[in-house]
Amino acid sequence: MAFLELLFIALVLYYFLYVVLWLVLDCNVALWYKSRFGVSLSSMRGQVVWITGASSGIGRALAISLARHGVRLVLSARRVSQLEEVQAECIAVARGLLAQKDVFILPMDMLQLEQHQSHLNKVLNHFERLDVLVNNAGRSQRANWADIEIEVDRDLFELDVFAVVHLTRHVVRYFLEQTGGRGHIAATSSVAGFGVVPFSATYCAAKHALNAYLRALKVEQPKLEVSIFSPGPIATNFLQEAFTGSQGEKVGLSTANQKRMTAERCGELFATAIANKMDFTWCGLFPVNAIAYCARNPTLTKILGQFMTEKTLNKIREGKM
Ligand SMILES: NC(=O)c1ccc[n+]([C@@H]2O[C@H](COP(=O)([O-])OP(=O)(O)OC[C@H]3O[C@@H](n4cnc5c(N)ncnc54)[C@H](OP(=O)(O)O)[C@@H]3O)[C@@H](O)[C@H]2O)c1
Repeated sequence: MAFLELLFIALVLYYFLYVVLWLVLDCNVALWYKSRFGVSLSSMRGQVVWITGASSGIGRALAISLARHGVRLVLSARRVSQLEEVQAECIAVARGLLAQKDVFILPMDMLQLEQHQSHLNKVLNHFERLDVLVNNAGRSQRANWADIEIEVDRDLFELDVFAVVHLTRHVVRYFLEQTGGRGHIAATSSVAGFGVVPFSATYCAAKHALNAYLRALKVEQPKLEVSIFSPGPIATNFLQEAFTGSQGEKVGLSTANQKRMTAERCGELFATAIANKMDFTWCGLFPVNAIAYCARNPTLTKILGQFMTEKTLNKIREGKM
């Protein structure tokens, strides 16, 4: 057989296998590879990781995954009693690798921007260092595009974008002044941050904006590690707190009985992405992973659009397929 024919067959097989992996894995192929063969989470032992939104869901699960390997933590959110529970869980799973002083509770409302610098000072006073900031706090949305009040657009951007950018700027300045520009900024974005899902227009726009801010940071500060982690549907309480189209209103629904990845698996994958300093990763159960791959490619997005109605996309997102 001619060399070119062999090459062609090898290429077809390679792409076939690659697409099969999109269908069977619960995250992008590179992240799955690192979870099996990459740097272990133990390589981060002793580092200090500050997680916002650590009182529940993905933030809590990430904290527990890191604590298991002796990573020192700053846990931030508004609900102090939940943070205390997460702190106790972290110390328990660390099996002697962490003491109470290694898991620092820092109550914080992300929306109080004027407090951000003093919160960072408290972290530095406590640990005398900070290695990674994980911007995880945030709220989602369910609303018809046409019905969204402009105040909701502003409120959602305030929490999911501006508060994150503001806190990150303080931490980046600390890295530039104190560590020669070396440090790590991570963020929980969303598959809605590079694909577009129905009935969450402001949220999609906010996560797209956050991704752009962080990618621009990486271009300006190449020594900084920047990790954008994008989950698909995850089984957390986030629908309780999600914005609607009306200011002050919350969706108030549970995600129980929906087909969603567990927060624990999501936390493990996020921890792997951070330990391996991966710049862009995502996760989600079938068919979210395959849809995420298509969303990254304009031609595939167009083809997918022929088959996926807004109703189907919504069913997948709400774990009803
Ligand atoms: N679940 C999903 O399907 C999914 C998918 C993609 C992306 N995400 C993203 O994942 C992140 C975490 O969400 P989750 O699903 O884990 O939901 P969650 O369980 O509701 O967690 C949200 C966290 O954000 C904190 N938070 C909310 N408003 C805050 C404020 N003003 N100041 C400080 N902390 C605040 C909450 O803590 P307090 O209430 O104690 O302050 C809580 O710890 C969000 O950025 C979300 O956009 C979630």
